[in-house]
Amino acid sequence: MDMLVIRGGMPLRGTLAVSGAKNAALPIMAAALAADGPVVLHNVPDLVDVTTLARVLESLGMSVIQDGSGRIELETLSHDPCLADYELVRRMRASVCVLGPLLGRRKRACVSLPGGCNIGHRPIDLHLKGLRALGAEISIERGYVFARAERLRGAQIYLGGPFGSTVTGTCNVMSAAVFAEGVTTISAAACEPEVIDVGNFLNGLGARIQGLGTPVLTIEGVERLHGGEHTVIPDRIEAATLLMAAAITGGSLRLTNVCREHLAGVLDVLTATGAELEFAPDCLRISRPGPLRPADITALPYPGIPTDVQAQFTALLAVAQGISIVTDKVFPDRFLHIPELMRLGASIRREGASAILQGVPQLSGTSVMASDLRASAALVLAALAAEGETVVRRIYHLDRGYDRLERKLNAIGAEIRRVEDRPENMPASLQLSADELPPPTADCSDGPPPPKFLSRSPGVRHAE
Ligand code: EPU
Repeated sequence: MDMLVIRGGMPLRGTLAVSGAKNAALPIMAAALAADGPVVLHNVPDLVDVTTLARVLESLGMSVIQDGSGRIELETLSHDPCLADYELVRRMRASVCVLGPLLGRRKRACVSLPGGCNIGHRPIDLHLKGLRALGAEISIERGYVFARAERLRGAQIYLGGPFGSTVTGTCNVMSAAVFAEGVTTISAAACEPEVIDVGNFLNGLGARIQGLGTPVLTIEGVERLHGGEHTVIPDRIEAATLLMAAAITGGSLRLTNVCREHLAGVLDVLTATGAELEFAPDCLRISRPGPLRPADITALPYPGIPTDVQAQFTALLAVAQGISIVTDKVFPDRFLHIPELMRLGASIRREGASAILQGVPQLSGTSVMASDLRASAALVLAALAAEGETVVRRIYHLDRGYDRLERKLNAIGAEIRRVEDRPENMPASLQLSADELPPPTADCSDGPPPPKFLSRSPGVRHAE
């Protein structure tokens, strides 16, 4: 396992290109199962999650050719397989996106339930409700969703849940409904740009979906979908993370391959915190000349602030001059980054679905543990601003969803090293020596001297 060693305090300056959107690329790759013909995708990010989904699709009878340049070719060799096994699905929840396309095209699917998740409770009841409404028989047995339908029929489906709509649920139901006889109407559909991209991809293969980007989708069923070519939209979450890297370090950054419209809420908050933004077509420049100001933000379904940037904003606001409140109404328990940010010196109190932050003038480097993808990004941002060195451990989360994040940040002036997570790779600056410990109090000054610690290992301390 690797860890990142980050030296903070450097203002980041330069130009970076945003990669393709993970959360569009994954359901689009899954939707390629529905095509009768080869599919070529461009601008697919180079991520562990993409490779994991490629393995799932291969297990489902597809050939997947990745050339490392963002181009992926997918083609169905056999329509027989219908099992997405737990061993693959447990590694990545987005594997559940194969359910709708399999059911639509192959009339049957057996997909493992993904299991627990560090960002909170993530049921798939809305996915199943939508597919049942189309006429699928669905049961859950031994941890698997068994779905079957000789014929899917168009239906009126409401996909709203207690926390808004569902992004991958909308993709699943839409990908099955393209094959349903007659017309399907999905109301309370997710409006995220990634859902629009999946819909545009399906329309490019011959589907008839209208209303993309609105909460009401109308889908006229077709007999079959042909192959096609599609370019994945830029990743708005990666863009937001990179913009915040510039803002938190007081640097300046020019981003290319970026869609301003998808970032409206994020840019509004960045401006409120003191960032200056300049726009050109397909390009965005940020600088943060003055101090960081506090802000109150609430993560909501699109076009609200995405929950996928809540952790990064929490890191940014941890060093703003004043009190900020961060609320997550999409995943109200997505706060495992808070204790780790507090290890870096942040002052944060959690109250239900909110975090209340009293900004501190300076964070100080230490060893922290990433709990999920966006929490990892938040810790990297905090480390870039912290004094001294920070070690971010368990960064396999980061590799699942960011395309070479540390390489990109290093290209604009960060100092990030990826090393194996071993005691001997822990920076000496993070080892406490005996003379840094508090002196003994008068009460126990007659007792035995405290043990001296060698500074060899971070986890295990060796008494001399
Ligand atoms: N929900 C239900 N029932 C369902 C589905 C969802 O109650 O059947 C609830 C969830 O528990 C949650 C809310 O609805 O409170 C939204 O969940 P949603 O289904 O929209 O999430 P998702 O489709 O599983 C996608 C992204 C997530 C992102 C969320 C919200 C992909 C592959 N994943 O997940 O991305 O946080 O939408 O925008 O598209 C990430 O990239 O780090 C990530 C977690």
